[in-house]
Amino acid sequence: MKITVIGTGYLGTTHAACMAELGFEVLGLDILPERVEALSAGRVPMYEPGLEALLRKHLVGQPGSTGRLRFTSSWAEVGAFGDVHFVCVNTPQRRGEFACDMSYVESAFDLLAPHLQRSAEQPPALVVGKSTVPVGSAERLAERLAERVPAGARVEVAWNPEFLREGFAVNDTLNPDRLVVGVRSEQAEAVLREVYAGLLERGTPMVVTDFPTAELVKTAANSFLATKISFINAMAEVCEASGADVVQLSGALAYDARIGGKFLNAGLGFGGGCLPKDIRAFMARAGELGADQALTFLREVDSINMRRRSRMVELAREQCGGGFLGRRIAVLGAAFKPDSDDVRDSPALNVAGQIQLQGGQVTVFDPKAVDNARKLFPSLGYADSVLEAAEGAHVVLHLTEWQEFREMDPHALAEVVSERRILDGRNVLDPQRWRAAGWTYRALGRPS
Ligand code: UDX
Repeated sequence: MKITVIGTGYLGTTHAACMAELGFEVLGLDILPERVEALSAGRVPMYEPGLEALLRKHLVGQPGSTGRLRFTSSWAEVGAFGDVHFVCVNTPQRRGEFACDMSYVESAFDLLAPHLQRSAEQPPALVVGKSTVPVGSAERLAERLAERVPAGARVEVAWNPEFLREGFAVNDTLNPDRLVVGVRSEQAEAVLREVYAGLLERGTPMVVTDFPTAELVKTAANSFLATKISFINAMAEVCEASGADVVQLSGALAYDARIGGKFLNAGLGFGGGCLPKDIRAFMARAGELGADQALTFLREVDSINMRRRSRMVELAREQCGGGFLGRRIAVLGAAFKPDSDDVRDSPALNVAGQIQLQGGQVTVFDPKAVDNARKLFPSLGYADSVLEAAEGAHVVLHLTEWQEFREMDPHALAEVVSERRILDGRNVLDPQRWRAAGWTYRALGRPS
């Protein structure tokens, strides 16, 4: 069985390399020639731990590689090569709307369709959507594909959402909690069981269902995670108003196995290319379906999340004596979370940008995301190290919890700053340690 992967972003590159790891011959396609060129040379164009090593392990032409993986920009090649085609293109938020932009998915199906030539002896080609899409899309795309394939071609569609987290993408793909497949025939199910045989043998549960349920699992999972984060951040607001400590509160809640401690860390809230746009697209889709009331709570989840960013700016302003003019602010973190260079809807950069607009002199440092941040916010100041960013700072903002920041030495940092004030936007620094070193430590949802 031969596999193609269409779209080589975070999801597609990881999926392609992991399919090769599972033993398949894999051909990846991207419409961006520079992407194909980089991947073909063994370079992953984003930071994802372990991914580049896995790519090189299987990439054709690399010393000692299995040679099972290569990349192209030719749709004809992809159509001729693959038995199973995974569509992994992104579905970003549409400009000025809550709904997501389906144009990349639609165009992938449209461009692939004319090349799905299968002889009568071959089993039907299976086109498997992995992108996060509004419920109802798989059915629509299956019809669209059927209209565009060559006369007599045998093709089927399946939907197989991905749950990988950036920073853990390889491990999440090779050791998933579960596999979810939306299928319309036993044949499609059998093909996907063969693709994932290695994982199924290890006991990974597989939920086999219809298209709309498969699509909804993904959006429902991300909505639940976003809600859990906003729940604890709402508690942080109440803690701030009442003098309570949200870190102790969430620790105590986590002992209840029904609640659990994961995704219960209060702080600057969620960002990235998935949770924010997925809950918005879900609300938009529910509206179209006449079920908008069911998801009005997600609007609140979104608002609580965005309020955390404003609250952080407020706290920073207070620490600067009521205004940012003439003040230097060090921002530690630009990625939306640690172990990633992704700055899409990054809470850290959002805060940095707001402070700069209010007259602060902001210098940002991130171990991996500075290049991406610079493209998005060229006017912010950037540094090459924590100490350089903190030079002369009136306040230090810790906004993305990289290990390097968790391990910072408060005494070393004290040597370079102008004032020892630190705001912990992720509630992971030890307040006692920082206070003992003479710092004013403040955090979201914790007493001063
Ligand atoms: C998410 C889902 O976890 C994943 O299953 C899905 O496939 C894609 O979207 P990802 O965007 O990589 O993955 O990041 P995730 O680890 O979920 O974190 C999302 C955001 O929530 C980050 O900004 C993170 O800092 C924040 N977060 C997470 C919190 O603020 N508190 C928490 O307790 C956990």
